Amino acid sequence: MPTEFVRVASVSDLPGNGMLAANADGEEILVARIGDDYYALDGWCSHEAGLLGEGNLHEGTCEVECPIHEGFFNLKNGRATAPPADEAVTAYEVRIEGDDILVGPKS
Ligand code: FES
Repeated sequence: MPTEFVRVASVSDLPGNGMLAANADGEEILVARIGDDYYALDGWCSHEAGLLGEGNLHEGTCEVECPIHEGFFNLKNGRATAPPADEAVTAYEVRIEGDDILVGPKS
């Protein structure tokens, strides 16, 4: 878990709406972009071993869908929004500095 802001990717890695799996202090992190807004969640689904970065981005509802059992999580706060996921994942603060995407402490 990052305790201070760490660089995880470049803005140019996410030129439009999309997601990528990143690493912050050894932790798997999901970074998502919708328009000019960036989000970061724990990279692992809270249900089982789904890697959220391999899931689907739902831009209209600001959610990520887990690739394993199709559980949904709100990108803004990490809350589980569709079963079988029923436990939130951690949401992190995101900061953009130049071309760097930085992920910080829990939001
Ligand atoms: S592992 Fe993500 S919903 Fe089951």
